[in-house]
Amino acid sequence: MRLTIVVDNTVYSKASEVRAEWGFSTYIHDLKLLYDTGASGSTLLNNMDSLGIGVDEADTIFLSHSHSDHTGGLRTLLRARKRKVKVVAHELVFKRGLLHGFSGSTEAIPVGDAPIEIFDGVIASGTIPRKWGPSHPPGFGDEIRDDMALYIKKGEGLAAITGCGHAGTENIVEYGLTVTKEKRLYAIIGGLHLMDASNKRVEEVAFYLKGKGPRLVCATHCTGESAIEKMKGVLGGAFTEGGAGKTLTL
Ligand SMILES: [Fe+2]
Ligand SMILES: [Fe+2]
Repeated sequence: MRLTIVVDNTVYSKASEVRAEWGFSTYIHDLKLLYDTGASGSTLLNNMDSLGIGVDEADTIFLSHSHSDHTGGLRTLLRARKRKVKVVAHELVFKRGLLHGFSGSTEAIPVGDAPIEIFDGVIASGTIPRKWGPSHPPGFGDEIRDDMALYIKKGEGLAAITGCGHAGTENIVEYGLTVTKEKRLYAIIGGLHLMDASNKRVEEVAFYLKGKGPRLVCATHCTGESAIEKMKGVLGGAFTEGGAGKTLTL
């Protein structure tokens, strides 16, 4: 399975026309699924064009949560498209009226508390229970009830894709293992929201992930620069830096 990071806080390839912005979006080629849409539609469309991803290529758009650095590009993309598209998001996200005016060109697939299998072995988490670990230190503003992950059953383990990771890394991974019935973590990709976390919490997450023995950790976006450096040190060769334009193979 091949993924291309379309929008991220940094650019992976300085040589291309790809731009950075505070936000996240990644395209899963094999599923024709766009995961999140970045903050500004202009960066999303610019980067899709530079990376050879047509505006009408995706059959499905998955929104990890309602924050504007993940949903901000949606309406610009929908305006540019000519084809109908499925939009998968938590039911609370749809209540914010994101698809207002696009009912003819979109099919909303709301997810509530229960996970939904949207493709064979590909699951929208629904509300992630927060019972395995902390979601945030006090005052972080991570009580985002509409935060979802996309879980992919790899056979060799669970691949989890997360937007901002507001539900907390341990909760995202452990719930994913429960939902997919996979035995181990194969990969985690996306934002882990550790940018203002204490060193202790960053270490806790880094060593938790290391203990899971993943093949690939691409923690990016709101993971924060210092947490990314720490994770590189702890996870060694399993850690891969993100950035717009980066291609990952699962
Ligand atoms: Fe974010
Ligand atoms: Fe967020």
